[in-house]
Amino acid sequence: MVRFDVFTLFPGMFDGPLGDSIVSRAVRAGLVSWQAHNIRDYATDKHHVTDDLPYGGGGGMVMKAEPLVRAVESVVEDRGSPDVEVLLLTPQGDRLSQALARRLSNRRRLALICGRYEGVDERVPQLLEARPVSIGDYVLSGGELAAMVLIEVVARLVPGVLGDPDATFEDSHSEGLLEYPHYTRPAEFGGISAPDVLLSGNHAQVYRWRRQQSLRRTLLRRPDMLDRARLDDADRDYLAELRRNLDEESQR
Ligand code: ADE
Repeated sequence: MVRFDVFTLFPGMFDGPLGDSIVSRAVRAGLVSWQAHNIRDYATDKHHVTDDLPYGGGGGMVMKAEPLVRAVESVVEDRGSPDVEVLLLTPQGDRLSQALARRLSNRRRLALICGRYEGVDERVPQLLEARPVSIGDYVLSGGELAAMVLIEVVARLVPGVLGDPDATFEDSHSEGLLEYPHYTRPAEFGGISAPDVLLSGNHAQVYRWRRQQSLRRTLLRRPDMLDRARLDDADRDYLAELRRNLDEESQR
């Protein structure tokens, strides 16, 4: 069971994406739970102000420390516990990867802080010992979409959430390789046939073909991943052959 508490100025954004499909099924099965908390509710002034001008000048607004720290401290009362982690979604964070998601899926509770505007007062991550997490090298208007991505990625890894454990295992990125191409009926469509080997019923050959396709895709699309992938001798031989062929092609 993993519990997600999200701190945001836009709690309504979460209902749609998290209210359908895998996450909602996981919630109904009692494997995951989540709640979006409105940071404004924790601002004590009359107008519930959550942002202010940056010290030192410059454009934009900064999210105030006080309401955010109060929100997280009142909701996540077990914050000091080793299986609880506070995360701040920001483009400046550690990049979210399948490996980081796997580590996070072992926590009992995750608090996700969604920044808006120019950013969050620096004392928020400092006081809450929040880990900064980014979902990629681009800038969103706030951390909300990033938090939803993180919840979906982590929820899928909670035992029992996906029916077939093999399905997660073989997914793209689980083993550090991209996934092989998929085909389903009909055998021919648009003048293109599904590969014969997949219709052959020969499991060893199917396995080998898929593995080689994974290696090929990864080499062509994400060669950086091969440095970290788990490869055996047959994989390395196949990659060496592929590289030779590609070199020859490029010289022609
Ligand atoms: N907030 C704005 N951009 C973001 C990103 N790329 N990742 C996480 N949080 C963000």
